[in-house]
Amino acid sequence: MTANRCTTRRIREMKGKKRIAVLTCYDFPTARILDRCGVEILLVGDSVGNVVLGYPNTIPVTLDEMIHHTKAVMRASPSALVVVDLPFGTFQVGVEATMEAAIRVLKETGADAVKLEGGTRNVETIRRLTAAGVPVMGHLGLTPQSVLEFGGYRLRGKGSEAEVLLDDARRIAEAGCFSMVLETVPRALARRITEAVAVPTIGIGAGPDCDGQVLVLHDMLGLFEEFQPKFVKRYAQLAGTIEEAVRAFRREVEEGEFPDADHSFGDPGA
Ligand code: KIV
Repeated sequence: MTANRCTTRRIREMKGKKRIAVLTCYDFPTARILDRCGVEILLVGDSVGNVVLGYPNTIPVTLDEMIHHTKAVMRASPSALVVVDLPFGTFQVGVEATMEAAIRVLKETGADAVKLEGGTRNVETIRRLTAAGVPVMGHLGLTPQSVLEFGGYRLRGKGSEAEVLLDDARRIAEAGCFSMVLETVPRALARRITEAVAVPTIGIGAGPDCDGQVLVLHDMLGLFEEFQPKFVKRYAQLAGTIEEAVRAFRREVEEGEFPDADHSFGDPGA
């Protein structure tokens, strides 16, 4: 572990004192950049399925794929806390299977914690994982692994569902989560949950009152153009920047401008 690496304890202690910045991260070079910017948590999210691997949703993502990407992130020796999503199918089948998957992730990658989507149904699993020394981040609201059941990516926690989510949040916090993501829920509900639980809430499409905020890196950099949820702020337009560079390269190759003398080795001297 890097000296001075961020810990789950430090994240817990930030609640009410300092807002927490979280970004998804799936590879070595971006882990280096995000880490030197002081982002507190790098989330190796199963959104890797959508934004890197080209799957239609996160359902097909495998544990091996998560481990592969997490190892690349860990090679950057980040100071940030690294949290890894347990993908669909690894924790829905029972506590023992979840324990095995989570332990494999920590042992094979050196990451710090796992994230599980879902509320009350995960309480026993979260208790067992944390008792065994596996830190867990929860994830409530629009949990993308349930997209087939939800029938699409829509706002969660409206009407009577608000009380269910509030209860879920209390239960997973009591079970031992060190923090939880709240995704695509009304601002007022996110505020109620943030006030009701002792651990930090990390919002995505949940308004400004959470203890921290997370975005999918490829969304905020303008690199993933297929779909832009309302809550995504684009801080850059990298798809356009890459396109411009690649077109310039192609034109220079075609016209024989590249490589020029500066980018070629001259004749070896006599
Ligand atoms: O996989 C992911 O990127 C996530 C974030 C949306 C929180 O779970």
